[in-house]
Amino acid sequence: MYNLARSLFFRVDPEVSHGIALNALETLHSVGGVARLFGQPVKDPIELMGLTFANRVGLAAGLDKNADHLDALGALGFGFVEVGTVTPNAQPGNPKPRLFRLAQHEAIINRFGFNNKGVEHLVQQVKKRHYRGIVGINIGKNLTTAVENALDDYLLCLEAVHPVADYITVNVSSPNTPGLRTLQFGEQLDALLGPIRARTNELNIADRHVPLLIKIAPDMSAEEVALMAASIERNALDGVIATNTTVSREAVTGDPQADEAGGLSGKPVFEASNQVIRQLREHLPNIPIIGVGGIDSAAAAKAKLAAGADLVQLYSGLIYQGPALVGECARALKTSADENASR
Ligand code: FNR
Repeated sequence: MYNLARSLFFRVDPEVSHGIALNALETLHSVGGVARLFGQPVKDPIELMGLTFANRVGLAAGLDKNADHLDALGALGFGFVEVGTVTPNAQPGNPKPRLFRLAQHEAIINRFGFNNKGVEHLVQQVKKRHYRGIVGINIGKNLTTAVENALDDYLLCLEAVHPVADYITVNVSSPNTPGLRTLQFGEQLDALLGPIRARTNELNIADRHVPLLIKIAPDMSAEEVALMAASIERNALDGVIATNTTVSREAVTGDPQADEAGGLSGKPVFEASNQVIRQLREHLPNIPIIGVGGIDSAAAAKAKLAAGADLVQLYSGLIYQGPALVGECARALKTSADENASR
């Protein structure tokens, strides 16, 4: 059935069909149809970072930037949903068109540029949710804030979302906000993570401990991954999300849309993100890793765990394969966890 829906959606402009699909999902959810169609979430509870995830499959950041669809998306069976990226103030993002399908590669290029309604709106939406799974909130900086002042924006978002987030992700890896990715390297990284860690510690009083994660790009050399790992350790982060979209076009050369600016996601980023996960895991044997990038099947989800991830997230695979992918991956990871345990 999803194949039929997909062939209809794929005839429409990608951003328009994105909106239509989310509205259709909302309508279906309002009559209780999402759970009926996709079944109950796979039960595979796992404890990580002091949180209990209902299963290992989450929704990656960027699909629900404002937490406007948290309940409907959660009903697809995700063990966790990451909302955002959110910035202190509302902003429109880049001019359209800014979303492109590379169907022959099962890939997407986006250059949304953190279009969102601002952190206050997101916090109100998260407060209203009925979804019982884990909700991560991914934070960024406004376009108009100079990169040298990025810390101010991250701290503003951190303070606002801390009371309602199950975990918080510092996004320094979107290619669509000029200069943002430079925060992943050199002295800038510690200068950002140090104060964010310190403020999170102050907010993490008594019974409310909110884990702090960083989301990183796949476009890093082995040396850069090693430096990133050392900074993660120094700043006592609770976890890493690997990876965001890639700026490389190597895997899609010749595609009519390959030259569109932005971040490439889907199948072509699968191996690059696995590579980063493997390298991170070598440097950080004990840190929780959320693996994301190009998961389009149960086998691909298992490969993320084999590379060293503890949990996975989906985005592009959901567009190309449909919502049944969530349950397929969660069931496969449950089986593989059971297999690992009995070894
Ligand atoms: C994204 N992604 C993303 N990530 C993030 O941290 N903040 C964001 O706002 C967005 N926005 C966004 C929009 C669109 C249209 C796409 C396709 C992706 C990146 C996403 O969360 C994920 O890390 C990558 O897409 C790789 O996973 P997939 O898509 O290959 O499963």
